[in-house]
Amino acid sequence: MKTRRHRATIREVLDVAIELERKTMALYTALVRTFKDTEELRGFWFSMARHEAGHCGALTLVESLLESDPTLAGDRKVWFDETTVARLRALLTAYLKEARRGVDVERALAMALDIESSELEDVVVDLLQVVKDRRWREQAVQMLIHDLGDLSFMIEKYTTDDQLLARADELVERRVGGLRTQVRARGVTASPPSARHVGSGVGRTGRVRRRR
Ligand SMILES: [Fe+2]
Ligand SMILES: [Fe+2]
Repeated sequence: MKTRRHRATIREVLDVAIELERKTMALYTALVRTFKDTEELRGFWFSMARHEAGHCGALTLVESLLESDPTLAGDRKVWFDETTVARLRALLTAYLKEARRGVDVERALAMALDIESSELEDVVVDLLQVVKDRRWREQAVQMLIHDLGDLSFMIEKYTTDDQLLARADELVERRVGGLRTQVRARGVTASPPSARHVGSGVGRTGRVRRRR
């Protein structure tokens, strides 16, 4: 497929990123409702939704800072891929419909993995560079990395799909490595996540991961 990747201004990307973060949040809140009777799952989807709410909040902060001082953006450009955006938007719309109709846990986790595999989070990290407060930026980046470890943990616990688990693990490792590099390149000193079950062989609960 032909990709249309170009460098766009922060202003151009901001609206799209906020729209997609909102849609992602809507998907996860729909899943909160679907799994409301299983405490752990309800809590998991709620924390996923909260993460997305955090991303929306971070981006609206960037938006507001830019409105009051447009020079903050400077001539900074961020990578923007229209094909990826169109694909993600279509995927989110379809998944939201599907989630509202009702899905089982395996399907819900697979949907989340598809969405989280998109490069939206990378774009968000780029946009956060407008905010000069380093501590805040570090926390925001930290938050972006975290929810994927939980996602992989839930896939391990609630599904028997080896491929799904392998994909989740690969994504966590790629994301941790990728954001580390991105963070370093930007001179942000955020310590990357403890990678509590990335390559450690031990899950969050301390039990040894089943290697299948
Ligand atoms: Fe997000
Ligand atoms: Fe996310």
